[in-house]
Formats: sequence, C-alpha cells, structure tokens
Amino acid sequence: MQKAQENRDVLAGAWADQEEYVSRVIRLNEEAYTRTGVHPKALVHSFGCQQNVSDGEKLKGMLVQMGYQPTDELDEADVVLYNTCAVRENAEDRVYGLLGQLKHNKEKKPSMIIGLCGCMVQQEHVADRIRRSYRHVDLVFGTHVMHTLPRLLWEAATSGHMVVDITDSENGIVEGLPVVRGEGAKAWVPVMYGCDNFCTYCVVPYVRGRERSRESAQVVQEVRELVAQGYKEVMLLGQNVNSYGKGLAEEIDFSGLLEKVNGIEGDFRIRFMTSHPKDASKRLFETMARCEKVCKHLHLPVQCGSNRILERMNRRYSVEEYLRLIDDARSAMPGISFSSDIIVGFPGETYEDFSATLALIRQVRYDSLYTFIYSPRRGTKAAQMEDPISREEKGIWFRELLGVQEEIGAQRLASYVGRTLRVLVEGYEKTGEGLLTGRSEENAVVCFPGDASLIGQFVQVRARGVRRGALVGEIAPQQSGSSV
Ligand code: 5AD
Ligand code: SF4
Repeated sequence: MQKAQENRDVLAGAWADQEEYVSRVIRLNEEAYTRTGVHPKALVHSFGCQQNVSDGEKLKGMLVQMGYQPTDELDEADVVLYNTCAVRENAEDRVYGLLGQLKHNKEKKPSMIIGLCGCMVQQEHVADRIRRSYRHVDLVFGTHVMHTLPRLLWEAATSGHMVVDITDSENGIVEGLPVVRGEGAKAWVPVMYGCDNFCTYCVVPYVRGRERSRESAQVVQEVRELVAQGYKEVMLLGQNVNSYGKGLAEEIDFSGLLEKVNGIEGDFRIRFMTSHPKDASKRLFETMARCEKVCKHLHLPVQCGSNRILERMNRRYSVEEYLRLIDDARSAMPGISFSSDIIVGFPGETYEDFSATLALIRQVRYDSLYTFIYSPRRGTKAAQMEDPISREEKGIWFRELLGVQEEIGAQRLASYVGRTLRVLVEGYEKTGEGLLTGRSEENAVVCFPGDASLIGQFVQVRARGVRRGALVGEIAPQQSGSSV
C-alpha cells in the first residue's frame, strides 16, 4: 500500500517535468508561424475503446498546450498522431493500411511528423515492424509514457531519426494533463487504468499494465469541474471498474466512488464501464439503485454462454453465477437494461457451446450487444490453443448471433413505446429528417422533433414507436418544449 502511494507521488510532478519541452515546442511553432504565416496544426485519431478516446483527448490537450491547432484534415496537419488499439487484428491492419497511405503525404510535406502511440505499439513486435518497414514514421510511444509527449515530440522534430519509447512501467497515474474534450454534453472520466484479469484471449493486461486507481478526490474534483462547465453526463471509465480502489491508501471500492460522484450537486447523470461479472455484486446494484444520478443501465460483458469456454477464457464465473447477477440487478432495479460483449469462435468452441451463448442471450434479453469474432493475439494463452473451426464457419455463427439479437433488441426497444423517457439530446439525426436524437437513461436511442436549443439538455420524451433501431416520439406534453 505504501508503495502505491510512493509511486503516485513520484508521478505527481510528471507533467510539470515536461514544461521545458512544452516551451521548446512552442518556440518551434512560433518560428514556423513567423516563416509561413500559418498556425501549425495537429491531427489526433484514436482507434478502439473509450479509454483510448479519453487518452486521445489528453494527447490533443498536450498538443494544444504546445501551440498546435487541432485539425481533422490530414492535408493541413503538421503532426499526425494515431492512437492505436490492439484488441483485435483488424484494428491493427487498419493502422498499417493508413501508415502506407501516409507515406505519400510525407513525401509531399517532409516536415510532417508522423506519430503512433497507444496499445498496438506497446507490443515489442509491432514497434520492431514499424522500425523496420515504416521508416517514414517519426515517433512511436506506448501507453506508459503518454505524458512525455512534449519531450518525445521535441526529439522527433529535432533529432532527424525515429524516436521510439515503449517503456513499460508498472506504476502510477499522471494527474493534471490538459484535456481537449470532444463536442457535446458527455465527458469521459477515467477512474482506473490497466487490467489484472488476464482473460486468455485479451492483450490488454500486456499493453496497459497492472490495475491502478485514481484517488477518489481527483475523480470527484474532475466531475465537479465538468458539471460546472455544463456537462450533463459523465462516463466513469476503466477496463474493470469493479476493482476500483485496489492499492489506494484510502479505503474505498467502486460503490463508494459512485456514492461520492452521485453526491456532487448539479443536474447530470452518471454511466460507467466496464464491469467484470466476477467483481459485480449486490452491493453495487443496491448502490446503483440508491444513486438517483446513476443510469439504470449495466454493461456486463459475458463473452460466452458455455461454462467450458468461460473456463478456458479464464473469466472466473459460471453461466449460473452470471444469471444470478442479472437477477440481483433486476431485483434492485426493475427497469434496468443490459448490454454485453460476446466473442464468437473462441479456440475449441463448438456449435454446441455457441448455442449455449444464444440461449443465454435469449434468457437475459440484452438491449444491445457488442459482438466480435475471436481474433488471436500474440502473447496471449488463447493464441496457443487449438482452433479447428474455420473463419467461414465462425462467420456463419456470427451472423446467426446478430439475427437473434436483432429480434431481441427490437422487442426490447418496442417495450419502451408508450413510456416517457428522460433523454439527453445529442444533436440532429443524420438522416436529414430534422429530428433531434439522444439517449435515454436505459441507453436507447430516441428521436423526436424539437428545437436546436434543446441540444445538450435533458428532455422528457414520450416514445410513440420504433423506426430503424431507434425510438421515435415527441416531447412529453407537461413540459412542452422546455428543458428540464
Ligand atoms: N478477439 C475478439 N474479441 C476480443 N475482445 C477482447 N479481446 C478479443 C480478442 N482477442 C473483446 C471482448 C472485450 C471487448 C472489449 O473486446 O469482448 O470485452
Ligand atoms: Fe481484457 Fe478481460 Fe481485462 Fe477486459 S477484463 S481488459 S477482456 S483481460
């Protein structure tokens, strides 16, 4: 416990230590502006999960602090940073494809700095491949040294060679990094980093290191500031939020953190992800039920409905235990909605195992599912297991799963018709029909006619029907047009 405390102390000044390099890069950018009359621009693109998107907001924050203007246009970018994901092979393939294309941009504009960071490049074999075959890349850095971007960028800009830092450190959390958040009224707030679970298919524990939690005071302070700035929804993030608090000097678990965040004054709501079923408990559900700001929606990844496969996945719960959790959550919160992650075609999975997954889905009746075909990841246990089922066969199972869920999802959505839902309005729908769109507390997409002034506000919407995977409705009569 003492050690964790020391580690955090060590990293407390980690961002301040970058000050000298921030100043140096600012000077470089000022010189460039004097020369060209154009402000240097930086593009950050994050792949993968919300944790990565949240890291991307900090990367943008650091770049803005160093004098770059954010851009989404590759052609005008002076720095391009791909914040990569390693969870599945196709995410990695996309990055290699984009890197190939970037070669032409670099030829046209040799001063462009191309950087890669995040989970994918934290893997030694990936960093080696970049070193060998993608020489137009200037900067490669992993998940543990993200806060040293100013120094790394300075070195990349001035050294004339590829700068690589994939140092793996087990410690610490760096507080105080600047953040440039995405548009809208929702904000990501990481509460813990890393994962100690070592599910046999998953590369995350290898690339993001051991679990470590932020002090609750830091989380509360951040949420308080967000609420004061007008944010209406905070998503508390972690690979496994239910193990929040381990290693902290203070005596706290995730339920305790939820209580504290719920106690912050203001009109906002709280979501969180991801919960591991092995650590979810009645205590968590009772806390969720009691905390009026916590959305009554639970993302509880089951991955598979066969005990044999769950064991091979090292998930450390059985189907029966999982179903008991669902029952407990429903008893504590009768209207709760669920979503889940499913992996199809884990090594050794048979059609019988897969059928058990279908049966579980039919029993739980999730509102939505995130479904993946198993992707072997180098260095994981599952990558060593026999995997006799062909990709084609897995594709057939996968489509069957989608079909089953489509029906359940539609029925779940229809069950909201007639109800009045509290919707956080996100903007206008892409279809061009002029409807506003947002999400209910249960995480259902709800569309309705309304005025642009409602964007970013909570609105009570009466659901009238279902159309293309979303509820359609109208503002509930009692408040006619005003936000709540
Ligand atoms: N192959 C396919 N899906 C995976 N996931 C994690 N690792 C793999 C893999 N090797 C999925 C899990 C996890 C989600 C974030 O990604 O379902 O919950
Ligand atoms: Fe990967 Fe399992 Fe950790 Fe989730 S809990 S990040 S699936 S190892």
